[in-house]
Amino acid sequence: MKKINIFLMIFLIILLSGCKKTLNKNEENSDILIAYFSCTNNTKRVAQIIHEKTQGTLWEIVPEIPYTPDDIGYSDDSRALFEKNDPDSRPAIKNTIDNFNDYETIYLGYPIWWDDAPRIIYTFLESYDFSNKKIIPFCTSGSSSITGSLNNIKGLAENANWQEGKRFSENFKEEEVISWLENSEVNMVYFSIGSYKIKANLVDNEATRELIKKLPLTLELSDYAGNEKVGPLGFSLPTDNEQITTNPGEFVLYNGNQFVIFYGHNTWSYTRLGKVDISLDELNSILGSGDVSLTISLE
Ligand SMILES: Cc1cc2nc3c(=O)[nH]c(=O)nc-3n(C[C@H](O)[C@H](O)[C@H](O)COP(=O)(O)O)c2cc1C
Repeated sequence: MKKINIFLMIFLIILLSGCKKTLNKNEENSDILIAYFSCTNNTKRVAQIIHEKTQGTLWEIVPEIPYTPDDIGYSDDSRALFEKNDPDSRPAIKNTIDNFNDYETIYLGYPIWWDDAPRIIYTFLESYDFSNKKIIPFCTSGSSSITGSLNNIKGLAENANWQEGKRFSENFKEEEVISWLENSEVNMVYFSIGSYKIKANLVDNEATRELIKKLPLTLELSDYAGNEKVGPLGFSLPTDNEQITTNPGEFVLYNGNQFVIFYGHNTWSYTRLGKVDISLDELNSILGSGDVSLTISLE
């Protein structure tokens, strides 16, 4: 009886230590970094929601010299305006990320200052090697979009895999951030066909994670069965086949080594790869009626 109790205790200890491991793993997603700069806490609040949802590491970009309310005022002699007007201004960052290489995905958040990112974001992007890292930019602003800032800062980390950015208003709702997060799990790539270049969203699975590593990639696709363009990848990808009825704009992996993009419907066993969000008319005019050469790239 005593022996049984000892075995039971050992079993319980093993079980509990296993549970603890799982909890710890969920506590922090070591691949994801959420780096943000914020002076009046709007961007910080977005960053905190991303942190709670993704379990990534939250990291504040702390200026060596803090910004006082006067520094970020709208007066002609404010520090922020002075920095904005000096293209070489790179305000120093007080803290450093020692294990930067551990992160694959970086959410990068900042407030919009004069339709641009604050110069300290320039400092941040020039401080680390972002090659092949996925950057998901987000910002808060009174009314400006994120576009102007992205046009200026993308070139500072040109080898990164920049994802579509997201702007939130100063009084955003938590649900908006959550709904964006649920959709930003996809990777954005570009499809070039002739003179057309369109955005395509990849689903997140083993096949697309491997596919991304092979980009840029040019495929020769043949028209087939009046509903698809199909061609060999030249290599195999991991499959996760399911019986799918495809819609126009969706693209899939067939037989583990064939790429298929649909302009019509078909039901077959495929691994989903992603989707282009354009109208059927646009899709038809881009794909045309014959064979096509398609280049998939991150840029
Ligand atoms: C110096 C400065 C410049 C700003 N410029 C703009 C702007 O060009 N467009 C805009 O919509 N909002 C602008 N804003 C408003 C901020 O983008 C907005 O309040 C933001 O949410 C602040 O983020 P934070 O609380 O994380 O610092 C500016 C704010 C400051 C302090």
